[in-house]
Amino acid sequence: VVPTPPEGTTAPFAELSADFIGSYPDPATRPEPQLPELAFIGRSNVGKSSLLNALTGRKGLARVSATPGKTQTMNVFQLPEFYLIDLPGYGFAKASKVNRAAYRRLVEGYFTRRETLTGVVWLLDSRHDPSKDDLAFQQLLADSGRPVLAVLTKADKLTRREQAERPAAIAAVLGVPDDQVQLVSAETGLGIADLGESILTAIRGESA
Ligand code: GTP
Ligand code: MG
Repeated sequence: VVPTPPEGTTAPFAELSADFIGSYPDPATRPEPQLPELAFIGRSNVGKSSLLNALTGRKGLARVSATPGKTQTMNVFQLPEFYLIDLPGYGFAKASKVNRAAYRRLVEGYFTRRETLTGVVWLLDSRHDPSKDDLAFQQLLADSGRPVLAVLTKADKLTRREQAERPAAIAAVLGVPDDQVQLVSAETGLGIADLGESILTAIRGESA
């Protein structure tokens, strides 16, 4: 049974005492025991590692960097009834063609074949419309058939008016209903508690 996060906390998984399990170059690696897992994916530098830290309330858990391409391997955190997986970002400008093809193969294999993959937290920068890379990735996600939580990051960089307007604008570009995108800020904690609830619902739905 996954404990319910205490109300009003901005780090919904703080009490689940996240454990760093390991860092694996090949996403086909299976951590033991096999548990439901949620993958965090998005463009390089979009804020995946920061979001993991905000959810767990542990600033240094996943490595954050202002330089895109910081996370190069699959990093696994156990929570303890499920795993959160920090994946390398896509669209890393400095990556070579060979690296891009290899990355796509690895991630594609992971999303289509991983039986324990319960859901995907897909991060998009709230300040920008989805990029070409994002839209290509949306197709890969759709093909994988996994439930996806679309999360719009860095909301603290938006004005109040933009905070009200950007989610619907981005949902329209993605062709999904407005309520299928969630605005968050790892910096201020905006939307983090709600996202925690959505994640627990996704995990419980699978393991129930
Ligand atoms: P890669 O591992 O390189 O793919 O990046 P990532 O997606 O894990 O991003 P990371 O969490 O390392 O954050 C990238 C940069 O964005 C860092 O400078 C963070 O401090 C910043 N950042 C992340 N989340 C937020 C946020 O909610 N608000 C603001 N203002 N900055 C953020
Ligand atoms: Mg990262």
